[in-house]
Amino acid sequence: MTNAPEDPVTKATRTEFMIRPAHTPLPTLVDYLELPDEELQERIQRRKGELNAVILGHNYQRGEIQDVSDLLGDSLALSQEASETDADVIVFCGVHFMAETAKILSPEKTVLMPDLRAGCPMADFVTGDALRRLKAQHPEAAVVAYVNSSAEVKAEADICCTSSNAVDVVSSLPREQPIIFVPDRNLARYVAKRTGRDNIIAWDGYCYVHDDMLMEELDQAKEAHPDALVVIHPEAPQQLLDRADEVTSTSGIVRLAEEHDTLIIGTERGLVDRLRNDHPNKTFIPLSAAAICGNMKLNNLAKLAWSLDHLEHEVTMDEEIRSRAEASLHRMLEVSQGWKAPTEEERELELAGVRSSGCGCS
Ligand code: 13P
Ligand code: SF4
Repeated sequence: MTNAPEDPVTKATRTEFMIRPAHTPLPTLVDYLELPDEELQERIQRRKGELNAVILGHNYQRGEIQDVSDLLGDSLALSQEASETDADVIVFCGVHFMAETAKILSPEKTVLMPDLRAGCPMADFVTGDALRRLKAQHPEAAVVAYVNSSAEVKAEADICCTSSNAVDVVSSLPREQPIIFVPDRNLARYVAKRTGRDNIIAWDGYCYVHDDMLMEELDQAKEAHPDALVVIHPEAPQQLLDRADEVTSTSGIVRLAEEHDTLIIGTERGLVDRLRNDHPNKTFIPLSAAAICGNMKLNNLAKLAWSLDHLEHEVTMDEEIRSRAEASLHRMLEVSQGWKAPTEEERELELAGVRSSGCGCS
């Protein structure tokens, strides 16, 4: 327990953050909303240095957030970075399950979200309780949790997956073993088709942004651009995926945009705008102009600057849930070769470090 007095402005009580920032934090978010972008950017950079913080941004973030992110990527790349970074503070610009994943993988770090309301409605389709009930009905099944799920759901799973490794994750499980796949029915169906499995029990959840994309919209886009490569995110409905040239994650789409000149892109609209910005001489057509994730767009520069100055909103969770969720994520990262269990020697070194720090918990 620290006796450090609470900073009236930043509310920081942890001793490691008691050194006052070189610039003065402003009292409320409204004060930040009134600042010009240049000043917000300057504040963000300065405060990042003071805290040894890293800003992780998802591919769907607003351009202004993408510009100040240290790493921009899909869920897999961001969780790999969260498990490897040596920063003390991670500010996650994405949605809640992504920040939670960072905390699960880096419990010793402070993980912040600029806006707590940035949740993922697809993740909310399944709760720990509901999943436990389904598991009781299928005790022999393995549970695969799409990373778009809560820590409690991940804790109930045998292994997690993202849109870029779902096929590999499912293929890593014994073929005859039934699989409960939560919460995305479209991704589950896509994986079943790719792996040729007929023993996947899919949860009936979906992403409103991708599930609402229409066949008519694809037909119109193809008619106007018959030579375009069609790339679609696997959260889209099966009938659209069947017409795609490539089905891949958001970072997969970014890679394809490097290689091709004309793409019809079936994912969140913001990614299309960014690619147009990055490649002004190429043609990128949104499959649906209405595909916008309002939750991802809740973050902005003012909230990010406020978050860093005030060390809010901190993501916390129950340790028992965290450690079980971590096991499911580590299994996934092992399949993706992005994480390796520490060797005995590394474990010893880590323990020696803990002991010499005198925290007494070892
Ligand atoms: P990616 O992992 O492909 O970035 O997808 C995350 C997401 O939420 C897509 O809607
Ligand atoms: Fe969730 Fe869909 Fe938004 Fe991705 S696009 S964060 S799945 S609601």
